[in-house]
Amino acid sequence: MIKTKNIVVLVSGGGTNLQALIDAEKSGIIQGGKITCVISSNPEAYALERAENNNIPTKVIPRKNYPDSVSYSKAILEALDSEKADLIVLAGFMTILDECVTKAYSYKIINVHPALIPSFCGEGYYGLKVHEKALEYGVKVSGATVHFVNEKADAGAIILQKPVEVKYGDTPEMLQRRIMEQAEWKILPEAVSLFCQDKIDIIDGKAYVRN
Ligand code: GAR
Repeated sequence: MIKTKNIVVLVSGGGTNLQALIDAEKSGIIQGGKITCVISSNPEAYALERAENNNIPTKVIPRKNYPDSVSYSKAILEALDSEKADLIVLAGFMTILDECVTKAYSYKIINVHPALIPSFCGEGYYGLKVHEKALEYGVKVSGATVHFVNEKADAGAIILQKPVEVKYGDTPEMLQRRIMEQAEWKILPEAVSLFCQDKIDIIDGKAYVRN
C-alpha cells in the first residue's frame, strides 16, 4: 500500500484551481493524496477562503514581507518541511521560487501554466498576460500545461497538456476562462492523482505517465 501523500497547495489569488483540487479530492478523482495545507503569498487571496470553507489549514507567508526571492523561498521551504509535504502544487502561485526550494523538492513540485509550453511561458508570462500575448500573436489553439518545477521558469518536465480553441472575438478574459474550464481544472487534478499513485516516471529529465 502506498502511503497517502500530503499535498500542500501554494496560491496567490482567486484559487479556482485550488477549488478544482478540493472538488476532485471530494469526488475521488484524486487518489492517494490529501490536501493538508494551503499557503498563500497574498493575505487577501480568495483562495484562503476556499480552503477555510473546506476545513483545510492555511498559512499566509506574504511576499511583500521579504526583501528578495531567496529570503522568501527560505520561509516557504521551512513551511513545506514543517508540513511534511510529499507534493507541492503551485495553483496560481505568482512568485518564482528560488532553487533552495526547487532542489530540496526536486520532481515534487508541480505547476499549472495557462498555455501550451514552450509557447507563451517563462518569466513575465503569468495570469492574464499569457492570454494577452497569445491573442496578440494570433494563435488559433492555446491550452494548459502541468509540469514539474525546476530552476528555470516554466521549463521543468511536462506531465500533461490539453489544447483549447481560440475563438474569433476572444478577449484575454474569455480565453482565460475557457482554458481554465476546459483544461486547467481537468489536467491539474489528474496530474496530482497520477503523482500520488506513483504513476509518473522520470527518464532523462522527461516525465512519462504509466497506464
Ligand atoms: C491560472 O490561469 C493559472 O494557470 C495561472 O494563473 C491563474 C490562477 O487562477 N498561473 C500562472 O500564470 C502561473 N505562471 P486561480 O487562482 O483561479 O487558480
